[in-house]
Amino acid sequence: MPPARPKDRWGNPVTAAGDETVRHLDDTLMSYLALGRDTGEHLKAALIADPGMAMAHVLKGYFFLLMGSGPLKARVPKSLEAAEAVAKSATAREQAHVEALRLWLADDAGKAVMAWEAILADHPRDVLALRLAHHAYFYQGAAGDMRASLDRAMTSWDAGVPGYGFVLGMQAFALEETGELAAAEAAGRKAVDINPDDPWAVHAVVHVMETDDRHAEGIGWIKDLEPHWLKANNFRYHLWWHRALLHLDRGETEETLRLYDKSLWDPKSDEYLDLCNDASLLLRLEILGADVGQRWRPIADKVAERTDEHILAFIDCHFLAALAGDGRLKAAREMVAGMRAKGGAFEVGAAVGDALLAYRENDHRRAARLLEDVRAGIVRMGGSHAQRDLFDLVLIDATIKSGDRARAEALLAERTAAKPKDPWSWRAYARVLRGAAKADAEARAAALAGS
Ligand SMILES: [Fe+2]
Repeated sequence: MPPARPKDRWGNPVTAAGDETVRHLDDTLMSYLALGRDTGEHLKAALIADPGMAMAHVLKGYFFLLMGSGPLKARVPKSLEAAEAVAKSATAREQAHVEALRLWLADDAGKAVMAWEAILADHPRDVLALRLAHHAYFYQGAAGDMRASLDRAMTSWDAGVPGYGFVLGMQAFALEETGELAAAEAAGRKAVDINPDDPWAVHAVVHVMETDDRHAEGIGWIKDLEPHWLKANNFRYHLWWHRALLHLDRGETEETLRLYDKSLWDPKSDEYLDLCNDASLLLRLEILGADVGQRWRPIADKVAERTDEHILAFIDCHFLAALAGDGRLKAAREMVAGMRAKGGAFEVGAAVGDALLAYRENDHRRAARLLEDVRAGIVRMGGSHAQRDLFDLVLIDATIKSGDRARAEALLAERTAAKPKDPWSWRAYARVLRGAAKADAEARAAALAGS
């Protein structure tokens, strides 16, 4: 007879000292789903209650990896060892989590996601496996897989299951990233109705509004829900980033800079997503012609310590943009070499990094060519459409500045078709077309003058 095990809130048996211990685990997971600030405290309570609980050690390792930081990654082997030491008496589901942690730590997120999907096939209410698969697909640029994963799991979830709103919020985001904007918005709004303290669902709806160029509505949505998402961990800065982006889309560079200084920039934060938000916004501001002053400096100071981490190509490209933005071209070039040596999606990152360097050195022709070459592969670096759009903006700006009018016109025709209500794109398009018309007129005039 296998030992009777307490069950978690979703009905999965857990190898733990007792019900009380499993409640701490449940609270940890609910806080993680809510992107709360007390996730670590709940986990600590679980480990105090039962220092031999495999899932608590696995979670600790997962959380360190989710932080995307070299020093925290270095602490994962200890958690993995602790989990492995007790894994023998754990369930097959728990053992599969230990294996997924091992794979993820070994930089094989592709295999880790397969392990989570295998767990989900038997335990579709393993919300941890579901969320981690969601995260992994996101950074693999695998939006279709991200959506399919939720579609499969959703058949086992309904409003009566704890955390249903969170799963709906994940589905909303996956729908948005696969272009199903109306369905995404409906799912996201429903998730927020169920639980407004769900920053990921709030965020999914913001993505819909940004993609749909509903700028004022997006700003209103974020503002109205601010008391809820302000409670979140550092993910709240990503919502500030989205709000700033909506202002930027309307060409409001002063308001964007004000938000950057007041709400986005956190001098104490070392979290990768915060640094990515910051770098992305500053570069976008510069593309729009704004003077960002000395703002690159403190970001570059932070990332200068982390150029060898190479956690994700997506992160590296933003770190590199910050170094280049502050004129530290040598360090940025070294980062490119490091990325190239890593291979895989980092090769895409290296090409983007070369392009960002060329852009910074005003070699616009080279920047544009490099980005054109790698454009179709950029999705492999992961991130959202909205985040990757930065590289398209650099491409368009570099193309305009390189003087390749025909290509700039083509890129802007493409962009205005995809974003018909985006003012920046139309203004840039109009400028290019005006330039073309002027050049044509000049050519005609010169021909006439010569005749
Ligand atoms: Fe986002």
